[in-house]
Amino acid sequence: MTDTLSIKDNRTGKTYEIPIQDDSIRAMDLRQIKVSDSDFGMMSYDPAYLNTASCRSSITFIDGEKGILRYRGYPIEELAEKCEYLEVAYLLIHGELPNKNQYEEWKHNITYHTMVHENVKKLLEEFRYDAHPMGMLISAIAALSTFYPDVKNIFDENSRRLQIYRLIGKMPTLAAYAYRHSQGMAYVYPNNDLEYAENFLTMMYKPPASSNYKANPVLSKALDVLFVLHADHEQNASTSAMRGVGSTHADPFSSAAAATAALYGPLHGGANEEVVRMLEEIGSKDKVPEIIRQVKEKKRLLMGFGHRVYRNYDPRARIVKKIADEVFAVTGRNKLLDIALELEKVALSDEYFISKHLYPNVDFYSGLIYQAMGFPMDIFPVLFAIPRMSGWLAQWQEMLADSEQKISRPRQIYTGYPERHLDSTPRQ
Ligand code: CMC
Repeated sequence: MTDTLSIKDNRTGKTYEIPIQDDSIRAMDLRQIKVSDSDFGMMSYDPAYLNTASCRSSITFIDGEKGILRYRGYPIEELAEKCEYLEVAYLLIHGELPNKNQYEEWKHNITYHTMVHENVKKLLEEFRYDAHPMGMLISAIAALSTFYPDVKNIFDENSRRLQIYRLIGKMPTLAAYAYRHSQGMAYVYPNNDLEYAENFLTMMYKPPASSNYKANPVLSKALDVLFVLHADHEQNASTSAMRGVGSTHADPFSSAAAATAALYGPLHGGANEEVVRMLEEIGSKDKVPEIIRQVKEKKRLLMGFGHRVYRNYDPRARIVKKIADEVFAVTGRNKLLDIALELEKVALSDEYFISKHLYPNVDFYSGLIYQAMGFPMDIFPVLFAIPRMSGWLAQWQEMLADSEQKISRPRQIYTGYPERHLDSTPRQ
């Protein structure tokens, strides 16, 4: 068997042998296919990249048909059960799990970088009282690049490492500050004695006047597992934004601000917020058939359902469903859960959803947990962004080290006017 693809161009009668590697052909190999010497050559056309690999990556593996997700080869189920989020962040960025000393050092370095410059606090204070925390987060991440002139040294390994500590360390601080701004509450500084998720919950909820606030350990653990589940998901829209902006050699803070902006959209990280809004709008189980009818008539989307890659149950959704029980045992059951379960049951037995392979994704149940934990809805996408930072940074580093990568620059098929002139265009 020869690993080539024979292509016959019926316009010219010529045939071409294109090498196949990893079940793929290189789009650039199509360029030799021309009608004449002056012809630009053939391109592939793939709006929204439905079937185009933009990189080789050894970070995250997804088999969408089988519902498999692995980071660096480890199944997500094992990582969620046995690892802390910061261990997983180390794994994503370094390729291997840390040993005890490496982990202690990694945690120390990230904890050491949780504080933000006081001017960042002032910057956040200037936002309107009702500013969406994702807008604040995007701005704060971008602004941080101006505090560290060394961020531009992206080909210096030590500088890269420092920016990684800073970005992973500061995300919970920025997120909590954005929340407290919306509540008109004084900011709470990070506490270096606390674990990552516990520290975040403390910065979110500690009453300024209380010295003995202690985050519930079940909730800290649940949040940490949710962080593991959200840490990476290969070439999704926000990761592609990180890589795309990073490919211009912009600093990692600016690239991460772009990635966070991509995550903000309701079709991506904003979906968890939309799911809860949708469930609240439905209001009771008996309204579920009406919603399903509207979805089937294409009047609305069923938020938290469907995925570009998964054609099966999202493995993260299965784990989130399990965590929900542990969280509700502490917080009390979220009343919206019954509506969500009914929606899932009806959808999964309906031919419309079956034929389109539409299953619950990670966002379907995560919002219910966040809501039960007391998070306001508009901070849900921020909770997605905090752990995704480690995935973005792992992908960014991999992109920089990849000798095949260049500035990211898609082609287009021009559909506008041919050349025309102002003199022959009547003007009013
Ligand atoms: N509700 C109803 N119909 C849907 C849905 C949905 N949630 N998702 C897809 N479809 C239909 C869609 O209308 C299309 O139908 P047809 O073949 O008749 O045109 C078919 O299923 C294929 O959908 P698509 O839009 O071509 O799929 P996509 O891969 O472009 O979009 C998606 C993936 C996640 C954007 C989409 O499923 C969606 O909008 N879901 C709701 C938003 C959501 O939950 N997003 C979170 C994604 S998971 C977390 C993350 O990583 O961000």
